[in-house]
Amino acid sequence: MTLTRRGFLRGAGTVLGTYAFADMWHTAQAFSSPPMVMPMRTTMPTLAAPKVPLINPTSLARFVDPLPVPPIARVAGQRAHPAYPGRTLPYYRMEMRAFKARLHRDVPATPLWGYDGSFPGPTFETKRGEPLLVEWVNALPTKHFLPIDHNIHGAEQSKPEVRVVTHVHGARVPAGADGYPENWYESGQSALYHYPNDQDAATLWYHDHAMGITRLNIYAGLVGAFIVRDAEEQALGLPTGEYDIPLILCDRLVAQDGQLYYPVSDDPSAPWVMQCLGNLTLCNGKIFPYFEVEPRRYRFRLINVANTSFFDLSLSHDRAFQQVGSDQGLLSAPLERDRIELYPAERADVVVDFSSLAGQTVQLRHQAQGIVEFRVRNKGGRDTSVLPASLRAVPRIDPGGAVRERVMTLNEIDDANGNAMTMLLDGKHWSDPITENPRQNTLEIWSFVNLTGDAHPIHLHLVRFQIIDRRPFDLFAWNAHRTLTYTGPAEPPPAHEAGWKDTVRADPGMVTRIAMRFEGEPGRYVWHCHFLEHEDNEMMRPYEVLPAHT
Ligand code: C2O
Ligand code: CU
Ligand code: CU
Repeated sequence: MTLTRRGFLRGAGTVLGTYAFADMWHTAQAFSSPPMVMPMRTTMPTLAAPKVPLINPTSLARFVDPLPVPPIARVAGQRAHPAYPGRTLPYYRMEMRAFKARLHRDVPATPLWGYDGSFPGPTFETKRGEPLLVEWVNALPTKHFLPIDHNIHGAEQSKPEVRVVTHVHGARVPAGADGYPENWYESGQSALYHYPNDQDAATLWYHDHAMGITRLNIYAGLVGAFIVRDAEEQALGLPTGEYDIPLILCDRLVAQDGQLYYPVSDDPSAPWVMQCLGNLTLCNGKIFPYFEVEPRRYRFRLINVANTSFFDLSLSHDRAFQQVGSDQGLLSAPLERDRIELYPAERADVVVDFSSLAGQTVQLRHQAQGIVEFRVRNKGGRDTSVLPASLRAVPRIDPGGAVRERVMTLNEIDDANGNAMTMLLDGKHWSDPITENPRQNTLEIWSFVNLTGDAHPIHLHLVRFQIIDRRPFDLFAWNAHRTLTYTGPAEPPPAHEAGWKDTVRADPGMVTRIAMRFEGEPGRYVWHCHFLEHEDNEMMRPYEVLPAHT
């Protein structure tokens, strides 16, 4: 990293052809999470213009393509594994390939990368206590089609352009199967990972995690859903089978020739930009899809797989969602919610009841814009699903049982002109020695002191956690004497954030505290900001789970 890296927020011009990038910037800022202080930014990003102008979203016909439902991943056989002597496990083979797909009827086919040649990839249907093996095969070309920034740590010229390593987000797996960012491999190679599935039913997702290019590999399409079920959840009678559908949300900058444009700065020697906001929203890989539903209850698993954008979701016709789950599984009881905000990597499981809407259409909206249209048929089969009044006990973690509290800052390092260059966790770089080394099976509290102007979605691998509280603090006092002076009371999480989580929004000007027990195998994992641009550029740290004292 050099001081000549050009800032993202410098200058006033915008150059994105038919699409006003400045408006996207303002929209994003205006919708940053409610209780926040707005960042003091007065300048616009200066981006290099895409070769082909971007699609003007208002020019596209809405709701002309059916919603794709990703196919269920198919077992390719049974194999032995050393962790399970004397038995065999279901074995999946998941090839990452380049392909082309139409994101919309009127947009030329888009070159993409995907698991099993689709975007999103097939959905894993798994069950608690039933371990499985996946061979993740890199069958991609040897040249990347998106712009690599070789200044970024881990993405140097000396590294092969195309590198992958898959992580199942939210899965409790041994370190060797977690998709450690430096365990990437080249085209023509593969990795065989073992997933114990020793965890509660939840909506997980899988994605690439290769060091320094995760943002590009995910942007290219390397994502998919990974569902864990368990008997307790199945006994509840929630909608299931074809009435239980993942809705995988992201945005992309799509040019008029169908190509994806990944934003770069106008300085070719330092292309990295601190955020990537699309001109179009995609659900299950389609722009403005429609979905024919029966007049009955559905369960939708909303997953935000975007690089930087959050979604502010609602339903038209004053309909509400019944939220039944968050990142790591069921809430204690369904919550009626008019709006659901999801930061990158966050999930919400919702039940939507279309039974009184036969013959009508309802839209899923992001902010004011319809992004999916549900077309409710006049008739359907009998709906035997239920929405129980209570779902699963979520015992609150007692923070008093923590053996240790780690207070860590979220920082932004600016260049001489005040432009953001790098985001750091606790002022440290990826390659600094490990500082977070919790002991296996112990309870810890991690406090994130956000010194930046933005909210950051912070994610820990391996564990599920609970949010203890968020509390405003005095930034000037911190800067002057490194002391935490609170300026208001601690706010406990709202009900929808009071379940098990693996990604938490750390608001600016706030200390966000989480508590977790480090259950799982000792070894090296990571924690990071799930804005992929930040994660790729130093806002990620390794951590080490030490073996339990015996
Ligand atoms: Cu979605 Cu490091 O993970
Ligand atoms: Cu993860
Ligand atoms: Cu961040």
